[in-house]
Amino acid sequence: MKPYVGSKDKDIVPLEDPTGGRWKEPLESPVHWSVTFGENVRMGFNVVIEKGCHIGNNCFIGHNVVMRPNTVIGDNCLIGHGSVFEGDTLVGSDVTIHAQCHVTQHTFIQNQVFLGPGVILINTYKISHGREYPTSREGPRVEYGCRVGAGAVLMPGITLEREVLIGANSTVTKDCDAFGIYIGSPAKFIKHVPLDERL
Ligand SMILES: CC(C)(COP(=O)(O)OP(=O)(O)OC[C@H]1O[C@@H](n2cnc3c(N)ncnc32)[C@H](O)[C@@H]1OP(=O)(O)O)[C@@H](O)C(=O)NCCC(=O)NCCS
Repeated sequence: MKPYVGSKDKDIVPLEDPTGGRWKEPLESPVHWSVTFGENVRMGFNVVIEKGCHIGNNCFIGHNVVMRPNTVIGDNCLIGHGSVFEGDTLVGSDVTIHAQCHVTQHTFIQNQVFLGPGVILINTYKISHGREYPTSREGPRVEYGCRVGAGAVLMPGITLEREVLIGANSTVTKDCDAFGIYIGSPAKFIKHVPLDERL
């Protein structure tokens, strides 16, 4: 691990405050000073990484990625353009998260997971429209080697057990058993992942 230094040093200088001091604190740089990086991390343009995040070795972070506080990414991960992490999230190693995924707060993603483009993970059933009522927040748990097809939605608190495969555009409302293929909305079991596709 090493702090964010080198040719991007200019990025950690606070930006000039365009509000003329109306903000209580100066605007911070796109990458918070507390963020730690492994070796050989490559990043695109307009990446925002907030405090307490960590990016592991050999990761690629695409353009316009946003990571809210306490997002931890393991080694050898690919994070596609425009993906957003809402924070307090753990992502394992050798994970591919395609472009424009939304990874909600309190998500847990294990090693070797693949999320297709536009996958959405959410953590609360109730939609608050700004009112103050209690909501429980529980992110999805995506276990080792799962693959999630393009545009799928993972509802709050569900678990995809080992190497589950979710079809494109499915909505997962319940836990899915290991090695199952699930499709539709709500997603239903159709068959098991063939042996030759298993890790
Ligand atoms: C779920 C999936 C893996 C199934 O593939 P498969 O094992 O080859 O299954 P089949 O194509 O034989 O489909 C079985 C049935 O499910 C239906 N089906 C397949 N995928 C579906 C989906 N995502 N949603 C709804 N129905 C689906 C098929 O129409 C077929 O129905 P039928 O029996 O009435 O004809 C595949 O269709 C899929 O969605 N893959 C995700 C691809 C993706 O998102 N890739 C991202 C790469 S960047």
